[in-house]
Parts: sequence; structure tokens; C-alpha cells
Amino acid sequence: MNAPTAGLKRAPDGGLDIERVRADFPILRLKVNGRPLVFLDNAASSQMPQPVIDRWIRYQTTQHANIHRAVHYLSEVATAEYEGARKKLAAFINAREEREVIFTTGTTDAINLVAHGYGRKFIGAGDEIVLTTLEHHSNIVPWQMVAEEKGARIRVVPVNDRGELIVEDYLKLLGPRTRLVGVGHVSNALGTINPVREMIRAAHEKGIPVLVDGAQAAPHMPLDMQALDCDFYAFSGHKMFGPTGIGILYGKSEWLEKMQPYKGGGDMILSVTFEKTTYNVIPGKFEAGTPPIAAAITLGAAADYLAGIGFDRVHAHETDLLDYATDQVNRLPGVRIIGTAEQKAAVLSFVVDGVHPHDVGTLLNEEGIAIRTGHHCAQPVMQRFGIPATSRASFAFYNTRAEVDALVAGIKRVQKVFK
Ligand code: ALA
Repeated sequence: MNAPTAGLKRAPDGGLDIERVRADFPILRLKVNGRPLVFLDNAASSQMPQPVIDRWIRYQTTQHANIHRAVHYLSEVATAEYEGARKKLAAFINAREEREVIFTTGTTDAINLVAHGYGRKFIGAGDEIVLTTLEHHSNIVPWQMVAEEKGARIRVVPVNDRGELIVEDYLKLLGPRTRLVGVGHVSNALGTINPVREMIRAAHEKGIPVLVDGAQAAPHMPLDMQALDCDFYAFSGHKMFGPTGIGILYGKSEWLEKMQPYKGGGDMILSVTFEKTTYNVIPGKFEAGTPPIAAAITLGAAADYLAGIGFDRVHAHETDLLDYATDQVNRLPGVRIIGTAEQKAAVLSFVVDGVHPHDVGTLLNEEGIAIRTGHHCAQPVMQRFGIPATSRASFAFYNTRAEVDALVAGIKRVQKVFK
């Protein structure tokens, strides 16, 4: 059976053939409130193309059984497909070994796995955990829980007015008590691309491991674990054109082997007696119970699809959209963009003078335009900029300049309503 791919979807100029790409996404044909859907909430969750949806259906209709447990035909097929997906994802992120790829239920689950498996074992009283102002709550709260339990301290890297991490301050925070650095690759609230490679190198010079939250990077840029050399990297399927309920924790095998399992149950053991349980080797040690088999296999198809599109074309198209949107929104009096970093991914956060972001979102929705409004699960970022919330448009490779025009026209209408 052929792996689903996007084909090349190449336009005559070598760029994305956007109409052919959009034709792959059935949901983009929806009308919302009588208008064509303009979906600009991709940082929260992106949409699935037909080849990826088809992969889910094929699994459910011809391949489903539990894995690693039986010798019958379907169990063997499902096991092979599940492990095949692990192999695909390992290649997608250029991991050294397949066993360094753990299937989780998402980024949050992956970070909690590290907080429990590494944090509760290797972080003690008086130790320090370095995080950044830009972190999503999912890369803050698990570490606060560890810090509270162990008597450790959270140190926070500040950002400048553009929403960029202040690297000199980061370097000063790395000390003899630092036991972990946790940093987002791309800020979900502002779109800032953080200099993670440089940050990892500096931490490693002091023997400090680094966890990267890659939830907002995986849909937009090629990931290379060996080049990045991070110790842990987490991302979610549903933000990279796959299903919900699946994510990846990449971990260096040296760490994963030393870490304690996060969840106990079936499939994560080699033997169990009431006196003693011996844990499975990695990755099984971290995959207790029946995993999200269908979602893992479908995520493999999403990785194939993205590879078929090509990150070079994704990058070129999204850069064009972001530049265009930034320019158009900057022309609107009374609208301020929050997050103007030099290096940005496809996120445009803004505030409209005198209008609460929820009202912006509600009025845009009347025109079929979907954005996210609120604090984006990143309240420290909002506090840093002295605002309670923003409106956020976030792009994927299937969005168009015409959709940016619809957004800008929608914001103008909001301003008229609130005049
Ligand atoms: N983390 C997701 C977002 O930024 C839900 O919207």
C-alpha cells in the first residue's frame, strides 16, 4: 500500500500550488455564518488533509487490533504499522534511534513525562529550573509542581519589547544549581522563534540538559534532533495536520534509560510479581497501557504529507503570508502588533484599541473568520506586555493572501462597530 503523500503540489514557479493544496483539506470548503471559512487558528489546532483522514479510516476499517499482545493477523498488522509510524517519526525529526521516540498523548503529556521521569528523580532542594517568559503554561506548571515538591526554584529568562529572549540574561541564569532548561522553540502567543541551538550549546557547556517545547515549531520547520542536540523535544500531532490525542516525546536514550516511568501498567514491564516489577526497555517503559494506536499511525501519515509538501515551500509561503499580514495590519490605525521579533513563525498577535479581544473574535466569527482570543495559555507573556489578552491569527501553508485581506477587512469592521 502506498504511503499517503501530498505529491509535490508544485506551482510552475516552484512554489506551492495553493489551490491544489487547499483541495486536499475538505474542511476548508465549509461555510460558516454564510461565508467561506477563513481558518486562522492553526496554532491551536490545524486541519487534516484527505490523505491523512484516509489513513485513519484505512486503519480503522482494515487494520485495527491491540498491539504487542497477540499473534493473530490483525494484531501483527497493527503492531507493524504502529512501530512503522515510530520509525517514520524518528526519520521526520532525525533522531539517532527509533527507541528515542515515545508516543504520548500530546506536548503537555510529553512535558509532564519529563517533569515526572527526570524532574522528580534528578531535581532536589535548592536546585534551579530555568524557563522563559515566553513559555506556554504546559512548560511552566509541571515544573512548578516539581519545584514545590522538591524545594527547587524556577528562574525565568526575560524578553525585550519585541518579544525576544534576552540571551545575555539567560547565560547569567545558568549556574551550578541549574538542573534543567525548558524553552519553547516557537512562542505560541507571539510567534518568536527562539535561538534554541545557541541556548542548548550554552547549557551543555555547563552539563545542563535542555527540554524544547516544539509544539509550535513542528508544523513550520524541519526538525533535526541530532543537529539541535537537545536532550528532550516535545510536540503534538494535532498542530501538524494530524489527529488529536497523539504527540511525541523525543529523548536522548542516555536520559530515557535513567528516568523513572511516568505511568505504570501493561506493556511497560518485563515481569511483574507482587514482590518486584522489572520495567520494559525504552520506548516501552514509557508507553503503559493501550496507546493511541490509530492516532500514532495517522500521525505518521501527517509526517509523510508534510514531507511531500516540503518545508522549503511551507517556509516560503508562510513567510510571504506573515510579511503581508504584518504590513497590512501595521497600516491600520489603532491596531498594535504584539510580538515583533526579528525571527518569527506564522503568528500575528494584535490588540485593537478600545476593543476587547473576545469582541474582536466574536465579530470576526460572524464573517466566518476563526482566530483565537485570550491569553493563549501564556499569561506571563501577557503580563510582560501589560495586557490581559490578544487576538491571534495563526497561519498554515494552506492559508492565502485573500484570507489575510478578509482578516484586515474584518478588523476594520470591528473598529467601525466600536467607534
Ligand atoms: N497551545 C495552543 C494554542 O496556542 C492551544 O492555541
